Amino acid sequence: MQSRLFSTILGVFLAIMLVAAVSAGEAAKTAKAGYAYIGAKKCSMCHKKDGIKESWMTSKHATAWDDLTPEQQKDDALKPYYTTGTTAKGELLTGVQCEVCHGPGSAYKKKTIMKDHKEAIANGLLVPDEKACLKCHNEKAPTKALAASAKDFSYEKMKAKGVHKKAVKAAPKK
Ligand code: HEC
Ligand code: HEC
Ligand code: HEC
Repeated sequence: MQSRLFSTILGVFLAIMLVAAVSAGEAAKTAKAGYAYIGAKKCSMCHKKDGIKESWMTSKHATAWDDLTPEQQKDDALKPYYTTGTTAKGELLTGVQCEVCHGPGSAYKKKTIMKDHKEAIANGLLVPDEKACLKCHNEKAPTKALAASAKDFSYEKMKAKGVHKKAVKAAPKK
């Protein structure tokens, strides 16, 4: 009798622990998803001197949305491929901006955090790799240009052609 009571209590206890653990996981997820997009204009304020802004501005990514026809811009199926996301204020960021590849920047944009790789990662900075490209450069993409780009996608070649130049680093001291 007593041991049955005990196991019931234990069972209830474990169930509570499980719920608590699951909701803690949910909370962590929400916090992560809580990073907001700030837009390439804001990133560019600091990433101008290093040449990245200018280099990105001349890429197909920067102009991808503007290059669509007005009909295509009304097609919701294209949005995930041709836009970046919306800011906290609800402004749609068009084209493939910095944060598509580097993650939403509301938390890592501070200079003190940005300078510190570990801190930046902890605040949402993503290190892009081939997988990040294949989200859009895949055969299921809704436009011919994108779907075609997925054929024999070569990360190194595409990176050299379409992302941005490497930051111009300060000349090494002699
Ligand atoms: C207040 C200035 C500032 C702003 C705003 C800023 N950055 Fe930075 N960022 C820096 C500095 C400083 C560094 C470190 C030096 C470097 O690599 O240029 C850096 C480094 C980086 C790096 C390399 C970091 C690493 O550890 O690998 C990436 C990627 C980056 N920034 C992307 C962005 C993006 C995307 C945005 C906009 C969401 C942004 N930055 C906004 C100043 C800034
Ligand atoms: C959010 C979707 C998205 C992601 C992620 C993405 N791209 Fe793109 N990319 C596009 C769009 C849209 C275009 C323009 C396609 C068009 O012309 O309609 C494009 C065009 C390009 C082009 C120009 C193609 C050409 O023929 O000149 C290159 C190169 C490229 N991307 C490389 C990359 C690389 C490398 C990555 C990953 C580091 C990447 N892209 C990630 C959406 C994306
Ligand atoms: C299509 C994806 C993509 C977009 C859009 C993009 N980047 Fe990058 N970025 C990369 C990749 C990939 C690397 C790593 C390059 C390498 O070292 O191989 C990188 C590296 C960087 C670095 C590290 C320094 C360097 O030169 O390697 C900085 C800083 C940076 N990006 C800033 C930006 C900013 C600011 C924007 C917008 C103006 C932007 N990026 C847009 C993919 C992207």
